[in-house]
Amino acid sequence: MKIFESIVELQGYLDLQRSKGKSIGLVPTMGALHAGHIQLIEESVGRSDVTVCSIFVNPTQFNNPEDLLKYPKQLDEDKQMLLDAGCDVLFVPFVQEMYPDNNKSLSFNFGFLETVLEGAFRPGHFSGVGIVVSKLLNIVQPELAFFGQKDLQQLAIIKKLVNDLNVRTKIIAVPTIRESSGLAMSSRNQRLSEEEKELAVRLSQTMEKIKLLIDSGTSLLEAVTVSRKKLLHTRGIQLEYLEVVNSDTMVEVKEMSEAKNVSVCIAAHVGNVRLIDNLYLKQKG
Ligand code: PAJ
Repeated sequence: MKIFESIVELQGYLDLQRSKGKSIGLVPTMGALHAGHIQLIEESVGRSDVTVCSIFVNPTQFNNPEDLLKYPKQLDEDKQMLLDAGCDVLFVPFVQEMYPDNNKSLSFNFGFLETVLEGAFRPGHFSGVGIVVSKLLNIVQPELAFFGQKDLQQLAIIKKLVNDLNVRTKIIAVPTIRESSGLAMSSRNQRLSEEEKELAVRLSQTMEKIKLLIDSGTSLLEAVTVSRKKLLHTRGIQLEYLEVVNSDTMVEVKEMSEAKNVSVCIAAHVGNVRLIDNLYLKQKG
């Protein structure tokens, strides 16, 4: 696996690969890799000649400085996992390489998409994601770029970004990988104690229960209201939101018939770790 810290050197290598007719797949990450990230890598390895993984803990998307500081770093383990998964190139730039003059001129406004759910609780977060993802797409110029459905709103925002900027990269969505308990894999899970991990399982359980209730004829409103109440009364969990939305636009859905694709989205603090998850209630394309 080739490892680059420099943009120019990475681009030199990728130009050479392109001149040999090789297609490029990009998997952007912030490191502390787990099976969810590796699923994205494997997907790219299966569909591209050269897979580039970027590891960059992007400061512009952290609205909470403590979260940025505490973000887990384990580059040696990450390198080994990428090697085992068949990744061809690791791009691991320093902040100075990505933001030499702070890039103060750059910002994104995704309109409605960034005013709800994560956007409402993390002001500026999606602008930061937009900045770094557009830079990575410009640097690597991949045919395909892979993103997880685990971050459903991020996926919607990246699809909009690529569409609005006429970027030629095709965005591929990869389903969420979970632990056997149902807990969605996340780099932040490392910060949970065993006890907190058990509590965190309630998030996916709650969403599964909502799906079950709806499938057996309970109204959306009732299923969500009952589940929300239960979580609000669970000690150790601070619920931020539990919402049912159109999976493509993030607009709240009150009846299942309102949209082709419907998801339930959740965010909560378990201990002092903030977790997010989502589940498709209906998916038609
Ligand atoms: P990060 O949280 O490291 O996630 C990198 C990619 O892995 C994202 O596309 C995310 O949706 C996906 N992912 C995370 N957990 C997953 C899981 N359990 N199953 C499947 N995919 C999963 O998301 C980011 O980094 C950043 O915002 C980034 C896009 C890299 C921009 O900085």
